[in-house]
Amino acid sequence: MSEQNKSPETEQPEAESPDTETGEETRLKSRTHLLPEENTVRVRNVIKRYEMGKVTVDALRGINLEVRRGEYISIMGPSGSGKSTLFNMIGGLDKPTEGRVYIDEVDIAQLDAYELAWLRCRKIGYIFQSFNLIPVMTALENITLPMIFAGKTPDESIQKAIELLSLVGLGDRIQHKPLELSGGQQQRVAIARALANDPAIVLADEPTGNLDTHTGLEIINLLRRLNEENGVTIITATHDTKMLDVSDRIFHVEDGRVVKIETRDEINLQVGKLDGLEVG
Ligand SMILES: Nc1ncnc2c1ncn2[C@@H]1O[C@H](COP(=O)(O)OP(=O)(O)O)[C@@H](O)[C@H]1O
Ligand SMILES: [Mg+2]
Repeated sequence: MSEQNKSPETEQPEAESPDTETGEETRLKSRTHLLPEENTVRVRNVIKRYEMGKVTVDALRGINLEVRRGEYISIMGPSGSGKSTLFNMIGGLDKPTEGRVYIDEVDIAQLDAYELAWLRCRKIGYIFQSFNLIPVMTALENITLPMIFAGKTPDESIQKAIELLSLVGLGDRIQHKPLELSGGQQQRVAIARALANDPAIVLADEPTGNLDTHTGLEIINLLRRLNEENGVTIITATHDTKMLDVSDRIFHVEDGRVVKIETRDEINLQVGKLDGLEVG
């Protein structure tokens, strides 16, 4: 904690690190204090109430959170705690009943339909548990689609889609349709699609939820690479503990509220404890 006060003004995440620790040790330290001061996402007192006839569901009961540009955040919580609802609010896919969501300090409730569409298409990339690929389209076509929507030419889009498929390790699967791919491969196509328009923020709602442990780890490592190498802000909802040690911070959500926020340093302590238990 006191370490954070030593360098109040650090500019770039890439700035040379003064310490000479091994890569592994550096990686495991919380980097939040190295990131720019700006909040790329700010959620203020967000309440979401679903009215369904006589039944009212209070899905979010006053959420406050801030995410710095370049952070890797995990939102942990049991099923039904409001994670997906919160994602829909942050991603501008649905509107809060009360409260505000700011993306790069712009209150998204103030955006008109065109601006909101731009935000959803260009600034935010979405990854869902169930991949949500279009079944009749090839991997390549699934990825070019959002670029065509964004106004890129077909040639540019195809070029970029091929690059993205190589990035996620599927350069040899570009003509495959989703059902001709494994779950992990489909999720990698979905990640490539989420990156099509170079989003600043990637929202991943339980991206490993439908994958086996090994494939889940591959997806997590891919997200971490995007975060570290491309500076993409990653916000994932999960109840997968494998997500923990790659996260800069974890927001624990229960019953529509943030009940605890942990930093990576605190998480390492716990992961260490868990490992110890497993080994013993
Ligand atoms: N569109 C909806 N209409 C009505 N209730 C909903 C809707 N979406 C989610 N809920 C309810 O809101 C609560 C939170 O759901 P959700 O955000 O999906 O949780 P999580 O993603 O953490 O599993 C649940 O009780 C769920 O039943
Ligand atoms: Mg959910």
